[in-house]
Amino acid sequence: MTFASRFQDKNIIVTGGASGIGRATVIRLVSEGGTVLAVDRNADGLRETLELANSVADYGGGARSVLASITDEIEVRHVVQDFVREQGGLDVLVNMAGILRSTHTTETSFEDFMLILQINLGGTFLFCREALPFLLESQGNIVNAASTSAFFGHAYMAAYSASKGGVAALTQALSREYLNRGVRVNAVAPGGIGTPMVVAQAQAFPEGTDFSLYAHLTRPDRQLGEPQDVAAAIAMLACEDGAFINGAILRIDGGTHG
Ligand SMILES: NC(=O)c1ccc[n+]([C@@H]2O[C@H](COP(=O)([O-])OP(=O)(O)OC[C@H]3O[C@@H](n4cnc5c(N)ncnc54)[C@H](O)[C@@H]3O)[C@@H](O)[C@H]2O)c1
Repeated sequence: MTFASRFQDKNIIVTGGASGIGRATVIRLVSEGGTVLAVDRNADGLRETLELANSVADYGGGARSVLASITDEIEVRHVVQDFVREQGGLDVLVNMAGILRSTHTTETSFEDFMLILQINLGGTFLFCREALPFLLESQGNIVNAASTSAFFGHAYMAAYSASKGGVAALTQALSREYLNRGVRVNAVAPGGIGTPMVVAQAQAFPEGTDFSLYAHLTRPDRQLGEPQDVAAAIAMLACEDGAFINGAILRIDGGTHG
């Protein structure tokens, strides 16, 4: 399949670029001409992403990477500022890095609860904060990773669901705050996408899980979505096609949560 050149001359940061939806997004944006910096803490995954992305790069696009943790305030600042210094600006920020853990709430330590909030919500906040001054200059936009768990409640995932509800609220608050200043802020809310996170989760439900609680959240044919399905939606939100979409949380789950 060939794509358009919607991201030609656009400078883009994608967190979580070493795996799953983040990787598919790097590949998609580079194939449409974007200059993409993939950020992740997984060096091997980043290497593989760059190989895949640069083999389909088109319209002058290309990918590079940086190893960083999205919860390290100083690192995040350097990642954004160094990229802007090298490229001369920033047009799009895609926040896809995140973690998922499932436990019975009565067995969840406060430390684990806060870790999930720190990465999924805190890391998203840090990248938004550091990128916004440059996005104001370019009149750019942000796409965050919420989740169907934010709105439909996923059993044994209280911390994860709370973190994604936070991302949804953060997205809408920022979209409102910057409404008159030319920066759009949207989120995708995926559900049941076949990525390493979801494959690992299938084996990681806690003992005593009542799987009937998931029956209404799963397609009858058990089909999962592809990371590319979400990447395509992220590309639409982040380019001119999405110019009048702001503060939206776009559910991408094949209809399972309808
Ligand atoms: N796959 C789904 O069905 C689904 C559903 C809802 C929401 N999401 C969200 O979409 C995003 C991408 O998920 P995925 O399924 O592709 O997962 P994934 O596990 O395949 O990819 C997540 C990436 O984030 C990186 N990461 C985690 N913590 C980090 C940190 N502190 N610093 C830097 N990088 C870090 C990981 O190394 C990994 O490469 C996540 O935010 C996830 O919560 C996914």
